[in-house]
Amino acid sequence: MRLKSGWPLLAIGLWLPTLALSAWRIAHTDRSTHASIPGDDREAIRVSPEERSTILGTMNENLLALHRILKALADDDLAAVAKAADSAARAPGPGARLQSLREVLPDPWRRSGKIVHKEFARVARLAERGATSSDLIPRMSRLTRACVDCHNTYRLVPADRRRDP
Ligand code: HEC
Repeated sequence: MRLKSGWPLLAIGLWLPTLALSAWRIAHTDRSTHASIPGDDREAIRVSPEERSTILGTMNENLLALHRILKALADDDLAAVAKAADSAARAPGPGARLQSLREVLPDPWRRSGKIVHKEFARVARLAERGATSSDLIPRMSRLTRACVDCHNTYRLVPADRRRDP
């Protein structure tokens, strides 16, 4: 009898630490290391076709800059790394390209954008000072982390959906 009534307690005793551990894991999960989930819960940003193409145009420039930097690193061409990173750091963000986007893009978006610009600038300065690939790769991963964080947070939807139920 005693033993029997002890089982549920033991079960709870074993289950609680497991629950606590999974809660801790969820709280400490780094969003930037995960691909976005199929049931898309990213925050929707409502944009006009012009706003969308301005944002996506900027994004494609980001990817091109990343590619140029990685290619230059592979070629061990520090001058080319510095040049590509510097021009990416100076490139205007979507809000600077289109007035209406200044009201549409939320503050955390701008902060992510600033991190990307800052990291491009850091890579450029380090490359100018003759940094090695092993100095630059960790900086590059900070940069791509900012890309992934923002991608996991926001998605673009057409502005006319505003009137949908
Ligand atoms: C501040 C937020 C933010 C940052 C930072 C950011 N992106 Fe994006 N990016 C987006 C959003 C939002 C989309 C559209 C995603 C959607 O609607 O599904 C996008 C789309 C893209 C696309 C698709 C373009 C197309 O033509 O469809 C590419 C490529 C891209 N981003 C590359 C990058 C790279 C590389 C970086 C970092 C150097 C970066 N992005 C940083 C928000 C961001």
